[in-house]
Amino acid sequence: MFRLFAVSLLACLLISLLSSCTAVYPYKTQYFDQIIDHFNFASHGNNTFKQRYLVSDQHWSIGKGPIFFYTGNEGPITSFLENTGLMFDIAPEFRALLVFAEHRFYGETLPFGNDSFIPENLGLLTIEQALADYAELILFLKQELKCPECKVVTFGGSYGGMLSAYMRFKYPNTVDGAIASSAPIYSVAGQGSQSYFFEDVTKSFGSGTTGKACVSTIRQAFITLNELADQGIKGLNEVSSAFKLCKPLQDKTQIAHLQGWVRNAFTSMAMVNYPYPASFMGQLPAWPVSASCDLITSAKDPLKGLAAGAGLFYNGTKGSLKCMDVDSQYVECTDPTGCGLGNSAKAWDWQGCTEVTLPGGTNNVTDMFPVLPFTLEMRETYCKAKWNVVPKPTWLNVIMWGEDIKSASNIVFCNGALDPWRDGGVLRSPKRGSLDAYLIADGAHHLDLRGANPADPESVKLARQFEKDRITAWIK
Ligand SMILES: *[C@@H]1O[C@H](CO)[C@@H](O)[C@H](O)[C@H]1NC(C)=O
Ligand SMILES: *[C@@H]1O[C@H](CO)[C@@H](O)[C@H](O)[C@H]1NC(C)=O
Ligand SMILES: *[C@@H]1O[C@H](CO)[C@@H](O)[C@H](O)[C@H]1NC(C)=O
Ligand SMILES: *[C@@H]1O[C@H](CO)[C@@H](O)[C@H](O)[C@H]1NC(C)=O
Repeated sequence: MFRLFAVSLLACLLISLLSSCTAVYPYKTQYFDQIIDHFNFASHGNNTFKQRYLVSDQHWSIGKGPIFFYTGNEGPITSFLENTGLMFDIAPEFRALLVFAEHRFYGETLPFGNDSFIPENLGLLTIEQALADYAELILFLKQELKCPECKVVTFGGSYGGMLSAYMRFKYPNTVDGAIASSAPIYSVAGQGSQSYFFEDVTKSFGSGTTGKACVSTIRQAFITLNELADQGIKGLNEVSSAFKLCKPLQDKTQIAHLQGWVRNAFTSMAMVNYPYPASFMGQLPAWPVSASCDLITSAKDPLKGLAAGAGLFYNGTKGSLKCMDVDSQYVECTDPTGCGLGNSAKAWDWQGCTEVTLPGGTNNVTDMFPVLPFTLEMRETYCKAKWNVVPKPTWLNVIMWGEDIKSASNIVFCNGALDPWRDGGVLRSPKRGSLDAYLIADGAHHLDLRGANPADPESVKLARQFEKDRITAWIK
């Protein structure tokens, strides 16, 4: 699950002096008539749809300053704007124009309105089309704003970070440099280990002072869960009450969904393991992984600990949930790290069923989770039944170069050492100075892109400085 974004408005307000988060980031909403199909002249002719993009120009040196362009990912673009304070923080010193472009099939950018999510139409949801959209939009903006010479730097986090790097791969004439944060470009192309992700979630829970005890308690709790599931309705009732389920379990086969629900909570908290409180589906505390571990290791028994540790994610620190509706809180899909909910979840599920290779399942050997496999064969069966498509797991290896990226230049690949996605990305630079791999020691998922915060560790401040230095070199 790439799509997670945590907001920290409170922390923002505290540091408005740093001009980093002038409370809410100002922007204008605009729409661009975007071509429906860039690669087939016969299918939709020159028909267009409305692509949403957000513009923030109060620091722009009109006609001269660079364009900082966020390559929107799998959700409404407004949420990426709100969580990419870095661009607002550095706009004044670069006198940059900020543009946040919404990805086709997400948010308001639905090429076929409510009919967008049928397979015939979803065929136009590809990375190639999305990149062409961004290239068209950039060229349009340069013309419209009368700044054909304006430098362009793309920004993005997670899947958006992949797109940011890909823009420099594919349209180096249009994009002068790219910040690609927490972008697992190798693993999504089917390269390298496909089990790294949950391994890294496990390492995240295993680090810190209570880490060892935390992981062994989690493992024990999963064993207890399986034992209770084998004890008929009495055991199932005990599970339902420990987890405060709205709908008590009726059948042993429902245990797998509950296991996935727990796994999703731990996975998400590992991704947003930020040093300050952040709000997302409730209020998460600073360093949510250790907060979750504290609940797990201090509970009366491992099962209650597991319920409390996972509950923190869904209910937050000051939650108001009376019970846990695990069916609506967690929906299984082609992404074992979660697809989210609503239309964005459908679109992301499609992308996972076509071009984007997402991690396999869990195995209780290299990770602390129950055996919940998700092999390529299983994904194929799922995708055929769900969308009537067969995934092409190494297609990105072909069109986006796999691990052979040395013909690219002017990209910073930034990863967080705490982020479970890091091992799917570029951790060693194949061409230092031109392609840079930067690791943030105390960073989770694209922490560098977030607005400055008083609780920021030194390592993320240095990363942002590094990124600024590279941008300066690209656009001078
Ligand atoms: C789109 O195609 C139609 C004919 O199919 C043509 O009349 C129209 O001018 C074209 N529009 C653009 C913007 O090229
Ligand atoms: C799309 O669906 C939503 C929710 O069901 C509805 O409010 C809206 O009017 C629909 N839009 C169109 C263009 O049909
Ligand atoms: C995980 O593996 C260990 C060691 O083989 C085993 O004892 C335990 O029961 C397994 N746990 C689960 C939840 O399957
Ligand atoms: C959610 O949190 C509140 C406040 O901490 C608590 O009273 C409630 O029991 C929690 N709900 C669940 C389902 O755990």
